Amino acid sequence: MEFDAIVIGAGAAGLMTAIVAGQRGRRVLVLDHANKAGKKILMSGGGRCNFTNTNTTPANFLGRNPHFCKSALARYTPWHFIEMVEKHRIKYHEKSPGQLFCDESSKLILRMLLDECAASGVRVELNTPVTRIRAGEGGFGCDTPLGRFSAPSLVIATGGLSIPSLGASGFGYDVAKQFGHAVLPVRAGLVPLTLSGKHQERYDGLAGVALPEVEARAGGSHFRDALLFTHRGISGPAILQISSYWEPGVDLRLDLLPGMDACEALRQGREERPAAEFRTVLSGLLPRRLAERLCEVWLPSKPMRQYRDAELKDIAAQLQDWPIVASGTEGYRTAEVTLGGVDTDEVSSSTLMSKRQPGLFFVGEVLDVTGHLGGYNFQWAWASGNAAGQAV
Ligand code: FDA
Repeated sequence: MEFDAIVIGAGAAGLMTAIVAGQRGRRVLVLDHANKAGKKILMSGGGRCNFTNTNTTPANFLGRNPHFCKSALARYTPWHFIEMVEKHRIKYHEKSPGQLFCDESSKLILRMLLDECAASGVRVELNTPVTRIRAGEGGFGCDTPLGRFSAPSLVIATGGLSIPSLGASGFGYDVAKQFGHAVLPVRAGLVPLTLSGKHQERYDGLAGVALPEVEARAGGSHFRDALLFTHRGISGPAILQISSYWEPGVDLRLDLLPGMDACEALRQGREERPAAEFRTVLSGLLPRRLAERLCEVWLPSKPMRQYRDAELKDIAAQLQDWPIVASGTEGYRTAEVTLGGVDTDEVSSSTLMSKRQPGLFFVGEVLDVTGHLGGYNFQWAWASGNAAGQAV
C-alpha cells in the first residue's frame, strides 16, 4: 500500500511527526513492533508524564553538535505543546520550576496524541515489526508481516536503547548504518550510578538515606538536587542529571552542604556545644546515618572543643567537595535515556532529513540529542517530530 510518509515508532516523536504531517493532508502510516503505542509516555513522570519544561533552551541538551537542536526547538516551543494539552482539557501543574506534569495520568497525553492522529487520518499499526527496508526510485518499501508498505518519506522514530522491556531496540541505529550514517557511541543516561568493592562497602547499609539537596559535579557540569543512597549505589535527581556527564574514570564530587558556609556552621557548632562530639554536630547538618558513617570511615570524631579552626576549615572543604568513586551505571534497564546515537552532522537541523538519503528522516531520541531531566526529552521529541512532520 502507498502512503506519503511511513513513520516507524509510535512513541512521542513518531506520533508528533504523524500528527503534523497528517494535519498537512499527508497520508501517514505509523508502524510499531510493540503491542501498545507510547509505552514510555505511560511510564513517564511516575505515571503523570512530565510532558515539557517551560524553561527549555538548547543548553538543556547534550550532543556532539550543541547547535543542532536549536532550529527545531525554536519552531516548536513548550507553549505550542501546552496549547494542544489545553485544547484537550488536560489539567496540569508545575512541579519544580518549569516542569509540567498531568494532574491525573500520563494516559491522557497518549490519548490526546492518538486522538490527534485519528483526527488527521493517520493509520497506526501496532504489533508490526519492519523486517526489511528498501530504497528505490519512488521512495522506500517497508516489509512487514502485514505486507509491503511504501512511501516517498520514511521517518525513523524508534528511540534509544533504554528500557528494552518497553519496546526499545537498536533498530534506528541499524537503519542509519544501512544508509551510510555514522552512529556515535551510545550509553545509558539519566541513570543511577553503582558503587563497588571498597567504595560500596564504605556506604553499605545506607540504602534509603536521602539528602534533600547536594551539588553533584562531574565533567565540567554541576546539578543541585536531591540524592538517594540505594542498595547498589546512588540515585536521586542530582545523580541522574550528572550521570549523563559521567563515564568510568571521570572525577565525581558532591557538595554535601551546598549553598552553606560549612566552616562557619561547624565553628558555630563548636561555640554552642563545645563538649558535643563532632558526629553529633554533623548529624545536625546531614542525615544522622550518613554523618555517623562519615565519622566512622573518614572523619574521626572527637569533642568539638578539640578542633582548631584550620581543622574545621579542612573538614568543611572536604564535605563540600566529597569524592565518590562510582564503578558504573545501572544501565539501560533503568536509564531514562540513551546518550549518543545517529550523528547529527549528517542530518538537516531544520527538516531532520538525512543529508545522505533523500526522504529519510530521524526524529527524537534515536538522534545524538539528549535532554536533561525535567521534561526536556519530551520537548525534543515534540519539536523534532514537528520539524519532520512539516517536511515529509
Ligand atoms: P520512544 O522510546 O518514546 O518511542 C520509540 C518507539 O519505537 C516505541 O514505541 C518502540 O516500541 C518503537 N520501536 C522501537 N524499535 C522498533 C522496531 N524495531 N520496530 C518498530 N517499532 C520500534 N522524558 C521527559 O521529558 N519527561 C518524563 O517525565 C520522562 N520520563 C521517563 C520515564 C521513563 C521510565 C523513561 C524510560 C523515559 C522517560 N523520559 C521522560 C524520556 C522520554 O520517554 C524519551 O526521551 C522519549 O520517549 C523519546 O521519544 P522517542 O519517540 O524518540 O522514543
